[in-house]
Amino acid sequence: MQVTEIATRAGQVIGRCQRLASFSEDPKTTRRTFLSAPMRECHQEIARWMQPLGAQVRIDGAGNLRGVYPALQPNAPHLLIGSHLDTVPNAGAYDGILGVVLAIALLQELRGRELPFAIEVVGFSEEEGVRFGTPFIGSRALVGRVDQQFLSVQDARGISIRKAIEDFGLNPDQISQAALAADTLGYLEFHIEQGPVLERMNLPLAAVEAIAGQSRLELIFLGRANHAGTAPMNIRYDAVAGAAEWIGSVERVAQQIQGLVATVGNIEAKPGAANVIAGEARMTLDVRHSADNIRIRAVEDLVRQANEIATRRGLSVRETSLLSQPAVAMSPFLISEIEKAIVKTGCQPHRMVSGAGHDAMIMAEKVPSAMIFLRTPGGISHNPAESVAQEDVEKAIECGLHLLDQLASSSEFYKRNERA
Ligand code: HGY
Ligand code: MN
Ligand code: MN
Repeated sequence: MQVTEIATRAGQVIGRCQRLASFSEDPKTTRRTFLSAPMRECHQEIARWMQPLGAQVRIDGAGNLRGVYPALQPNAPHLLIGSHLDTVPNAGAYDGILGVVLAIALLQELRGRELPFAIEVVGFSEEEGVRFGTPFIGSRALVGRVDQQFLSVQDARGISIRKAIEDFGLNPDQISQAALAADTLGYLEFHIEQGPVLERMNLPLAAVEAIAGQSRLELIFLGRANHAGTAPMNIRYDAVAGAAEWIGSVERVAQQIQGLVATVGNIEAKPGAANVIAGEARMTLDVRHSADNIRIRAVEDLVRQANEIATRRGLSVRETSLLSQPAVAMSPFLISEIEKAIVKTGCQPHRMVSGAGHDAMIMAEKVPSAMIFLRTPGGISHNPAESVAQEDVEKAIECGLHLLDQLASSSEFYKRNERA
């Protein structure tokens, strides 16, 4: 492996991530939500990169990009490698995008060499859950978890997932065709760690052993709007004051439980004028933990506290569960293969739990799935300051090529299909 070639390839990967990040709904920052117009530019650019490699590129009924690089023989089973193409608002350039671009870099480095399995690059249409509040729309379609009720979920403008798919020029009735083939061998996802662990350990790569479970809720405190200048403090039903007291208890609960994180990431006051006591405070709650029982108990405790605070203040609370995603273990076989590949790059292997959610936790419902983390400088993500080091991208490419060689010659890897 020519070092300069890998360095050049890694530089191209970083440049391509920055190129895709420029396709945005916002003029100055990166925001690309489910099947918004910039997603089409993303698809077109990625297709331009993949077609010269002999890959067949299509967009499935859920808006996922699916690019298939052929195997040595026709009708061979697929190994999927990919990540998501949507972003949070004011995003960095690597969360999700890097996993798709790295998959393409591996195809480039194969230089026309075909393997016993086809490599299907997948760019999921939506993992973050920004537009519809519920995440994993793209990967749910691959594992058959998109039904009519799910398609009726609406965004803030009242547009349903079904309508968004139609508006993009796709047919939601073809979503079932997005499902994984029964003989799919597995799913691999390269992703930035999005936290401080690998930087603190001074490691470029890690294998993900499990992905923490996550709960997402919407809570609405309801009080009574009133005049900010004339209503004495003792007769107010201030929804924002109640919400503020509860948000403080969310932080305290999370600080007291080892390994638990809880976040109120969005709060909206209504009517939202400076001289009006808010009659309504709408918030999101995101709770994560690697143990489902601890996460679920924490959510129950926080909802109970919300009701206690509301009752004491003469308010009411409405809560809606948007997601309760169990923690998911990655494939032990693929983890061990990833660790072998990391060692071949000259790096020390490491296993860790992901605090961030990923499509791999959905794909693992159907196929052996695994993730390779890349170090995140400064541990910062979901922020334009998000970055990757070129030398870590080089290691990731080397690791990916070793991994493909290992899987191509592994009888264990194909055993799953003999059982299927
Ligand atoms: O929220 C997450 O964990 C991921 O970034 N979607
Ligand atoms: Mn993310
Ligand atoms: Mn991500």
